[in-house]
Amino acid sequence: MHPMLNIAVKAARRAGNLIHRSTDKIDHLTVTKKSHADFVSEVDRAAESVIIEALLNAYPDHAILAEESGSQGESEYLWIIDPLDGTTNFLHGFPQYAVSIALQHNGILTQAVVYDPTKNDLFTASRGRGTFLNDKRLRVTKRFQLADSLIGTGFPYTKFEHMDAYMAILKELMQKTSGLRRPGSAALDLAWMAAGRYDGFFETGLKPWDIAAGCLLITEAGGMVSDLSGNETYLDTGHICAGNPDIHPQLLKLMAPHLTAGLKGK
Ligand code: IPD
Ligand code: CA
Ligand code: CA
Repeated sequence: MHPMLNIAVKAARRAGNLIHRSTDKIDHLTVTKKSHADFVSEVDRAAESVIIEALLNAYPDHAILAEESGSQGESEYLWIIDPLDGTTNFLHGFPQYAVSIALQHNGILTQAVVYDPTKNDLFTASRGRGTFLNDKRLRVTKRFQLADSLIGTGFPYTKFEHMDAYMAILKELMQKTSGLRRPGSAALDLAWMAAGRYDGFFETGLKPWDIAAGCLLITEAGGMVSDLSGNETYLDTGHICAGNPDIHPQLLKLMAPHLTAGLKGK
């Protein structure tokens, strides 16, 4: 395992264990509302501290972009961290959430970890070395008909400016696929896409920490990732479409007539 991935795995496991130990005191946690339907708990913050401490302990000169504490440092190496992706699920005891850690080197994603503490599922990827779930090598699905496909998504829930376009896409997908799922953790959705549990995924308005790790998991598992127009702006815009190499272009084609200017760009 690449040494930087090894450190990221240790950090993710430490944070995951902390999250897991906190599940029996959910009702007593201090929870703050960041904006409409956007919550943060003391567990998110504690998990983030554990991760940053582990990473900076090993690599004191590296830079950090983390959901709860923001940016620190300047370096060609940037760690992108979501300490608890799926906070709403976690706060409701709905067992679908994960720790997400990615490393960018000179702007290129090179290492990724998504750790699901409820199932002890560790998804990892290093650029050029493939994607793994625990010890098992992962490949995206081979399904090639949209009608046979299972598609993951995330509903808009804090900002609703893309609601009409999103609903139009959802309506068409409901009629043209085998099914849609919205489990509530984008990082884990992307990991599941890499693991062949979905054939495609799309969501709007995500943040880099939701998707950075998951994107590398997918491409290293043979899948495709783009924004909703097929371009590479997804880490900036947060509008993302992923799929196996057959389903990805079909999703883009289906979405194209529904895209507003805002969904084509930022
Ligand atoms: C959220 C989850 C969710 C997605 C949201 C994200 P958080 O992350 O990934 O699936 O739909 O847009 O903000 O807030 O739980 O870390
Ligand atoms: Ca998140
Ligand atoms: Ca989070």
